[in-house]
Parts: sequence; C-alpha cells; structure tokens
Amino acid sequence: MSLLIKNGRIITAVDDYQADIYCEAETITTIGKDLKLDADTVIDAKGRLVIPGGIDPHTHFDMPFGGTTSADDFETGTRAAAFGGTTTIIDFAIQAKGDSTFKALDTWHEKARGKASIDYGFHMIITDLPDERVPEMSKLAEEGVTSYKLFMAYPGVLYVDDGTLFRAFRKAGEDGTVICMHAENGIVIDEIVKTARAAGNLAPKYHALTRPTRMEAEGVYRAIAIAEVAKVPLYIVHLSSSDALEEVKRARDRGNSVHAETCPQYLFLDQSYYEKEGFEGAKYVMTPALREKWNQEELWKGLRMNDLQAVSTDHCPFCFKGQKELGLGDFGKIPNGAPGVENRMSLIFNGGVAQKRISLNRFVQLTSTNAAKMFGLFPRKGTVAVGSDADLVVFDPDRTETLSINNPLTHHMRVDYNTYEGFQVKGYSEVVVSRGKIVCDKGQWKGKSGAGKFLKRDRHSGFNL
Ligand code: URP
Ligand code: ZN
Ligand code: ZN
Repeated sequence: MSLLIKNGRIITAVDDYQADIYCEAETITTIGKDLKLDADTVIDAKGRLVIPGGIDPHTHFDMPFGGTTSADDFETGTRAAAFGGTTTIIDFAIQAKGDSTFKALDTWHEKARGKASIDYGFHMIITDLPDERVPEMSKLAEEGVTSYKLFMAYPGVLYVDDGTLFRAFRKAGEDGTVICMHAENGIVIDEIVKTARAAGNLAPKYHALTRPTRMEAEGVYRAIAIAEVAKVPLYIVHLSSSDALEEVKRARDRGNSVHAETCPQYLFLDQSYYEKEGFEGAKYVMTPALREKWNQEELWKGLRMNDLQAVSTDHCPFCFKGQKELGLGDFGKIPNGAPGVENRMSLIFNGGVAQKRISLNRFVQLTSTNAAKMFGLFPRKGTVAVGSDADLVVFDPDRTETLSINNPLTHHMRVDYNTYEGFQVKGYSEVVVSRGKIVCDKGQWKGKSGAGKFLKRDRHSGFNL
C-alpha cells in the first residue's frame, strides 16, 4: 500500500514549503519536489495545505457521567473526529473509587477495541489513591498511560483532596509522567450551588453564576504550588478564563513546568448562551462554565503568546432530548459537557488563521504538535516528517462551511445538536489520512471501525513547551 500526495503546501510547527509526500504502508518515507514514484493512490493537493493530522488530547467517549453516558462511543466519536481532521485522540479511563486503576484501563480498552477508527491513547483519571495504590502509577506508565487527570471539582464524584493530589503529583514526577488538572474549587462552588438552589434559582444560567472565575484561578494557583513542590510537569485542562490564565502566566514567567489547554467553546461562546429561550441554555452546561465574552480575546492572546499551548475539545456530548433534559427544573442535574470533536480544526483555523490571530505554524502547534510533545507521541505523531506516521490532512483553506446538525459535511457526532450551530467557518479537512490510509475523502467515509490502534505513549521529555 502506497500513497503519494502531490503539489501540496506542507505546514508543520516550523515549516512551510511546497513538496510531494510519499507514504509506504503506515509511514511517511520520502518528502521531496516532483517525486517520480509509483503509488497505489495519488492525491493532487494543489491549492491545499498538507498538515499533520490533528491531535485532540481531551475527549470523553462512552463516559458514564451525570447519571447517563456520553452520547458518542469510540466508533461514532473517532469517526466524527476524523471527518474534522483529527487523527489521534486521547480519552480518559476512570478509576472507580476503591478499584484498581488497571481495572479501569481494561474497561476502557474494551470500550475502544474494535470500534476506534483512528489511533487513541488514554489518560487515567485517579479518584482514589491510598499509599498502597501509588505504585500502580509506575505500572500504568509502562503500559503507555503516561498522564493522569485529577479533579478539584465535582465533590462526591471525581473530586480528590489535596493529600491525594500531592501523592499522585509526587509519584508522577518521580516517574517522568504528567499531571492533567481539572482546576476549580469544587468545595466552594458546591456551597454557592446549595445557596442558589435554596433560593429557587434553578435555570441553566445558574450553572455559570455559581462558578466564579476566581474559583478556577484558585484551583490553578493551588495545582501550580503543589506541582512545584512535587516536581512534576503540570497541564491545566480546559482553561476557560483570563483570571485562571494569569496564574499560568505567572508560573511560566517563574520558569515552572506549567502548561495549559483551552477549548473552542471558551474561544467562541460566552455566558449569554445560558440566557437562550426555555431550556436551550442546557446545551452549553459544561464545566468550567462559559464566561463573560471579554475573556475570549485574552485566551486568544494566551494562544498567540504561548501562555496556552494547545486547543482540545473536552468533547463530552449529551443529547438535548433525554439527557440534558435530566436537569429540567434543576441546573445541578444537567449532565455537564458538550460536543465539539469534529469542529475543532475548522473553528481554530477560522478564528485563528483566517482572522489573523495566529500563524499557520502556530495553528499546527496548537492543534497537533504540542499535544504530541506534551503526551509522549512526538515525532511519531504531530508532524510531517520522514519516519512519522502517515497521519495527514489535505486541508482546503478557502472553503467555507456552515457548522450545523443539518450539514452532512460538518456533523457526524451522535448527538442531537451542534454547539456551534450556524457558525460559518473557513477551512475544511478535505482528505484525511490515518497511518497511510484515506479515512475521509471529500465528505465520504472510507475508514474502518477497529482500524485505530492503542498508542503506548512515552514519558514526558522534561522540557517545557
Ligand atoms: O463539562 C465537562 N467538562 N464534562 C466533562 C468532564 C470534565 O470535567 O472534563
Ligand atoms: Zn474536567
Ligand atoms: Zn473533560
């Protein structure tokens, strides 16, 4: 099996040049001008960009949460990701309290096996870490699970106390692995939620009004302090506000190994979405909540200036009918999360490159390369280079599509609404290649469920991004 992509403009984190790419089996083997090589498949990429397949390091497929399960499983979720130009995802296995983390890993392997059509890895969500379980973390790292997510939010569900945080952080640091942090003071937030409910304030908008940005900033500050003492690289997930970003900036200026991602929802949507008619606001109930609009430009500045290093989606879809509706009459019962895995690349290209906030190279860094570096996948993933996996996107920078549940080119997610309904975006993933095979071709599905491989990830390089 060979594939030749001709005449494309190759964009990586640092390069921008015109050349042909030849792939044999699953790997890029030659890059050069006017390659005269026979191939089973030839793609003419004239007028198109050729970029590394997107990496979304934060998805929740088939996740039990909020009294239900996220609507996309590994089959529908990875297919939708691929349609949007993402060829690698990192999802989260969840340790049940009292159980071993290996049991969780087995469960998540089972969920993905035979279903995923693109490559995938797992972070481990640690919910319970008595001293005797700490050594499990080293074994997980040997299995290629080299990052762990812990929660300061969701008391009684995923929340862990500071002692648990420290035990996990210290061990992750000793092992050369990474901590991903959901940084929000869930204990204080729960008190504010209690007061709102008691006052009869139950509409979706109270989800945002009970989650002050200061409580996100406090969580970020505390995670940074604990990580500094524990000597571990830190990666703040789904950072949503200027307040929280300031803490990341301060730590990075001090030279700490602190990194952060934001998500399209915090760059394009704002708190006013909770005011939509009736129960519509429930579609945007996610944690952290959407913020006041002025935060968006601060986050873009963070992306441009490298205070933020990646854009993930935190794709966690719940159907409006039957799932979000669990919270009719009480915002506290609305399952938290929203879909987005399919629309990330186009949204960031449009808001970033087309609207002149970031360069093409920065676009690739934020959507692919930096996640590969952070999470032990580089240079196998995250770049276009000889020897790298042939995960490639032929990207049309001029084509405009309207993101919509009704547009078969922009919505394959198994959920009954699109978070970005009606947004016009420039930039379309025309042909998507996963390890040398075309999986999407101009809106046609060519991939295969089960073709995606589990990625045993390396440890962190030790260098700051
Ligand atoms: O609302 C969200 N973000 N749901 C998914 C769980 C998480 O906190 O990432
Ligand atoms: Zn989270
Ligand atoms: Zn998440």
